Amino acid sequence: MSLNKSQQPQSSVGDVDDEKLQEHRRLANVVKGVHADLRKKYRQNEGDLNKIWKEHCQNGRLLTKYADAMHHLATDHWAQLPQHRITWCQEVALDFFQRGGLQQVLDKEKRRQFHIAKEEIPKQSGCDTKPSLAQNCDAAVASPAAAAPAAAAAAISPIVDQTAKNPAYIQNPATVGMESRRQSLDTVTLPFRGKIRLLDVGSCFNPFLQFDEFLAVGIDISPAKPSVYCCDFLHLETQEPFQVAPDTLDTFLSNLKSPIEKLPECSFHVVVFSLLLEYFPSPYQRWLCCQKAHKLLMINGLLLIVSPDSHQQHRNAAMVKSWKRAIESMGFNRYRYVKLEHLHCMAFRKIKNAADDDEVNSIVGDIHPDMLYIPQDSNELETGSEQSFMHDIFSVDNEEFFRKTINELPIDLSDDEDST
Ligand SMILES: C[S@@+](CC[C@H](N)C(=O)[O-])C[C@H]1O[C@@H](n2cnc3c(N)ncnc32)[C@H](O)[C@@H]1O
Repeated sequence: MSLNKSQQPQSSVGDVDDEKLQEHRRLANVVKGVHADLRKKYRQNEGDLNKIWKEHCQNGRLLTKYADAMHHLATDHWAQLPQHRITWCQEVALDFFQRGGLQQVLDKEKRRQFHIAKEEIPKQSGCDTKPSLAQNCDAAVASPAAAAPAAAAAAISPIVDQTAKNPAYIQNPATVGMESRRQSLDTVTLPFRGKIRLLDVGSCFNPFLQFDEFLAVGIDISPAKPSVYCCDFLHLETQEPFQVAPDTLDTFLSNLKSPIEKLPECSFHVVVFSLLLEYFPSPYQRWLCCQKAHKLLMINGLLLIVSPDSHQQHRNAAMVKSWKRAIESMGFNRYRYVKLEHLHCMAFRKIKNAADDDEVNSIVGDIHPDMLYIPQDSNELETGSEQSFMHDIFSVDNEEFFRKTINELPIDLSDDEDST
């Protein structure tokens, strides 16, 4: 027997849940619709990526609708859960800079260089006046403070060994002085002091502003909050590094004005791409973003990438591996990878500047932008891809997302700076 309308209870928990569900569905559809529409336009007219993107960025009404939907989805709906993607980024940055993560990586690197150098000693022949890398390592390991700066730099620093490129380099104290000053401003050194300068690209609602440990700069093509600066990261220009004291850089970054068109290279400790890369219809745009993040980061800085995927970890393992190879080719080492139930979370450490290595930032050998693919890029999967795309955190059929993630434990698939 069914109740007529007047007999039904006015409001129940079920109704409230249902309303919430409907609203969630509506918001998710707005977000997914924008992604799918961009992708469709790109497939129909691949040659005109710039035009498609320009028109997209000029569609103010659509962007505002998207920003509003994304903001509410993230804060009113997903916020009922521990915010995994944001807290994961926060935790990994704090672990790395403030709780010994970077120190561990540098120690490991030092040990590796020491072993490589030791193996090379028997190969050396004749008289060599330049201290070998092994001797430098010995000196630095035995007494880091007493070791000459050049020896310590060669043994400890992840920066490429300049002396290998230019033997005269080490003999000019003026050059050494200037260079070590440049390196100390370009490189995150320990102990870490001050706030972690964090650039949140595609920030939407500035989720990192709430954390005192960060000097958070949120940028977006369509900010949902006034504290987020207007900026198209794809067209952001980078300037020469400022070479100023950290406090001065902090002050500069705390007083930016919208729209941001330029930022200095080597100025951030962390760059975050949280649910950003899937927004772009083309792998090439993802590639450009990662290259730009590399420029903006200091050496030893972290690029944090969070990407939605509700499939089992093995389903898109090839994609994750492909991203790793592509991103590492730009001058990064993967520091951490975690598959959460609905997300891939990756941290890459910048290991060198592009100027120090010709191969960084160039498309060489079998490395190319298409390696930064996502399943829904594929034409063959045209219908299936939407299906595949449905199976992520934007999926309205994914209500389990709310419940399951509460008890979710991260599967940490890699130790520090894995090599898989
Ligand atoms: C799916 S939302 C993610 C929002 C937020 N990061 C989060 O994790 O909840 C993607 C955001 O990226 C922004 N975006 C897309 N392309 C961008 C670009 N080229 N530069 C800056 N922001 C961009 C969009 O406007 C949108 O706010």
